[in-house]
Amino acid sequence: MKVDGTHYRTIWLNDDGWSVGIIDQTRLPHVFTTVDLKTLDDAARAIRDMWVRGAPLIGATAAYGIALALRDDASDTALATATDVLLATRPTAINLRWALEEMEKVLSPLDPTERVAAAYKRAAEICDEDVEINAAIGRAGLALIEAIAAKKPEGEAVNVLTHCNAGWLATVDWGTATAPIYMAHNAGIPVHVWVDETRPRNQGASLTAWELGHHGVPHTVIVDNAGGHLMQHGKVDLVITGTDRTTATGDVCNKIGTYLKALAAADNGIPFYVGLPSPTIDFRVEDGVSEIPIEERAMEEVSRLTGRTDAGEIATITILPDGSPAANPAFDVTPARLVAGLITERGIVDANREAIARAFPERVEIS
Ligand code: MRU
Repeated sequence: MKVDGTHYRTIWLNDDGWSVGIIDQTRLPHVFTTVDLKTLDDAARAIRDMWVRGAPLIGATAAYGIALALRDDASDTALATATDVLLATRPTAINLRWALEEMEKVLSPLDPTERVAAAYKRAAEICDEDVEINAAIGRAGLALIEAIAAKKPEGEAVNVLTHCNAGWLATVDWGTATAPIYMAHNAGIPVHVWVDETRPRNQGASLTAWELGHHGVPHTVIVDNAGGHLMQHGKVDLVITGTDRTTATGDVCNKIGTYLKALAAADNGIPFYVGLPSPTIDFRVEDGVSEIPIEERAMEEVSRLTGRTDAGEIATITILPDGSPAANPAFDVTPARLVAGLITERGIVDANREAIARAFPERVEIS
């Protein structure tokens, strides 16, 4: 996607042919800045400290993290250590493990002297594949938006509600939940996005609003609790979110608060769809609520807020009374029964075991 006229992906190989560029997402929307990753530790830190985030981008960064690690030492032990270090960065998004397994599959059989080149090649492929997958998700989801637009009076916008950031910043390009939105907008279909701010880290307010704004997509940021009210008043046609891990049975794990949106959507007869790239399916997990590890993040993300002062400085303030503890589960699970459909690179798939297995038979066999 473009930022002030320049096309960016969220991760790229620099001209030196070995260091890896990323956008430091912790500084958005106030400052757009890029960072170079030069070591395994840089890549692990970028994921852990959320300079990069979003399930597909976490996976892509981990893939390049392996390539950076092998430059120093391409032995079996170094490969195993790098995999462990990266795997320990964040627990919920399955794309991390998927990407590391992809790297392992390609690299393990090779002689150590061949591994660095092969690692960079597979990491680049993972990035390119992500862009292709998301574009296909966009095309599949565009049909949904077109169908809703066709039933509306000419010129009236299709209102899509989204949660967190499953936009191009969360992937290599296009986004998952946002790909259909960008494609609808590009096709001239009037679309308006309700953007949940997504406390505590505000990925909706800081990232989704930023990227929609840069692409000229009409949008309105709302507090996380406003969605149900808007749905009751006919102001939401469709909900599309992303996912960090979707089970073999169609349960969807995504940013905390997604479940409440799905409940409100069900109560109001509004379709709740999920942009799902196939690397985000965990065929080893059946029941999302009991089996998916939910990341518990620092209490300070709840007790403190960071933003820009009127003087243009970035400042952090505390909003809790002294001594009040806070809990910060970062993800929740929306049961498959609340999901109208999974928008995948192979079309819209029902959120159940049979439909998912039918759409991705090759993934079922290897699990
Ligand atoms: O904690 P984050 O910012 O990594 O969480 C991101 C999300 O929850 C996204 O919705 C999800 O990763 C899908 S990204 C296409």
